[in-house]
Amino acid sequence: MSKQTDHFYNKFSFLYPLVDVFLKPQKKVLFNEINRLPDGNLLEIGVGNGAHFQLYKKHKIVGIDTSAAMLEIARKKCCGNIKVFKMDGKSLLFYDEEFDYVVLSHVIAVVDNPEQLLEEVLRVLKPQGQVFILNHFSPITGLNMLIVHL
Ligand SMILES: C[S@@+](CC[C@H](N)C(=O)[O-])C[C@H]1O[C@@H](n2cnc3c(N)ncnc32)[C@H](O)[C@@H]1O
Repeated sequence: MSKQTDHFYNKFSFLYPLVDVFLKPQKKVLFNEINRLPDGNLLEIGVGNGAHFQLYKKHKIVGIDTSAAMLEIARKKCCGNIKVFKMDGKSLLFYDEEFDYVVLSHVIAVVDNPEQLLEEVLRVLKPQGQVFILNHFSPITGLNMLIVHL
């Protein structure tokens, strides 16, 4: 992540719950999909303040983010099957093919090198794994959700 983006999320982490209010309907669709999937290891990159933790119903979750302030809030929401780490999604400290699912929710648009991020996602994803990408508004379609089956 760029220093500028990191600074932004560290400074405004307390405001993020307000932003999340507008994203709730889209996230409901995403988590309905995810909670229907078979058990497995799920990596959420750019996990932010952990707003999604209460929405995951069955998987083993690992959340990572570069913002210390966002992670501090996320850690308070952690429970048994959820672990969080400070880590850059562009250089993940995980083995190849470690995860069944990867979630990128409103992250692609803020990462300084999205290609490098996606290369890492593909490296840590198992064959037949699935990637879920939510993206920010686009002028044509509004909020976007993309599910990639590999
Ligand atoms: C717009 S917020 C989205 C938070 C959450 N995923 C959501 O949907 O509510 C973007 C998050 O991505 C994190 N982030 C940005 N670049 C990152 C990177 N290279 N690696 C990991 N996290 C990153 C930011 O710190 C921030 O918490």
